[in-house]
Amino acid sequence: MVEIRNLHKAFEGQQVLRGVDLQVAKGEILVIIGRSGGGKSVLLKHLMGLLKPDEGQIFIDGVDITQLRGRAFDQLRERFGVVFQGGALFDSLTAFENVAFPLREKTRLLEEAIREKTLTLLKQVGLADMGHKYPAEVSGGMRKRVALARALTMEPEIILFDEPTTGLDPIMVNAIHRLILDLHRRIGFTAVLVSHEIPEIFGLADRVAMLHHGVVVEAGTPEAIQFSANPVVRQFITGDPEGPIQPD
Ligand SMILES: Nc1ncnc2c1ncn2[C@@H]1O[C@H](COP(=O)(O)OP(=O)(O)OP(=O)(O)O)[C@@H](O)[C@H]1O
Ligand SMILES: [Mg+2]
Repeated sequence: MVEIRNLHKAFEGQQVLRGVDLQVAKGEILVIIGRSGGGKSVLLKHLMGLLKPDEGQIFIDGVDITQLRGRAFDQLRERFGVVFQGGALFDSLTAFENVAFPLREKTRLLEEAIREKTLTLLKQVGLADMGHKYPAEVSGGMRKRVALARALTMEPEIILFDEPTTGLDPIMVNAIHRLILDLHRRIGFTAVLVSHEIPEIFGLADRVAMLHHGVVVEAGTPEAIQFSANPVVRQFITGDPEGPIQPD
C-alpha cells in the first residue's frame, strides 16, 4: 500500500534521510525504531506530505504523493489520521470538542450525529465520561487517548503515530498498545508507528523497521528483529552503551 523509494532529505547541509527504502502492506502495523534525532519524525512528515524530499518517491496505492498538489493532495490527506508526538490537542477545547473538531470542519453532519459519533469514539478509547475536561485537566495518558480518538474520527485508512506512548507509565503504555491493537482489529487501518518502547513494541508490530544513519538497516518481523544478526540492531534493542552505535 505504501512504498518509500530511495528517500533523501537534508536540512541546511545536514543529511537526515540518505536513501530510505521501506514498504508497508495494507492493514499492517509497522513500527519504526531508531535513535533520537535519527529522522523518524521527518520520515513520517514525508508520508503526510508535510515535507517534500530532495530525492526519491513515496507511492500510496501506486501514486507518487511527493508530486501531488492542490486538490489531489487534500484528498490524499483525508485518507490519513495522525497522532503527533506530544498529542497536539487544542488546549482551549474540551476533549469532546477536540474529537468532534474534524467532523465539524470536514463534514456536514448534523449536531446530533456529531455528538453520537464523538461519544462513541470517546467510549472506544476509554474516556466515556471525560469529554467535558480540557487537555490541561487530564493526565498524559488521557491526552494521548484523546489524540487517538481524534485521529480516528474520519475513519482513516492509514494512521501515523509519532511516539504515542512516550512519557507514560508502563501500565499505560501497554493499555495504549492494547487499545491500538483492539481498534486495529475492529477498524482495520494500516498503521505506521514510531516508538522507543522496547520490548513492548514487539507485541504490537506486525513488522519492525530500524532507521539508522538515514537508511532502514533492517525491517522484519518482531522475531527477526529480536534475533537479528546485525550488530547495530542488536545493540539498539538491548540498549548496550558499547557497540557500533556511539552515544553522543
Ligand atoms: N524542519 C526542520 N528544519 C531543520 N532541521 C530539522 C527539521 N526537522 C527535523 N530536523 C532535524 O532532523 C533531524 C531528525 O529529526 P527528527 O525529529 O526526525 O528525529 P527523531 O528520529 O524523530 O527523534 P526523536 O526520537 O527524538 O523524536 C534532527 O537533527 C533535527 O534537528
Ligand atoms: Mg521524533
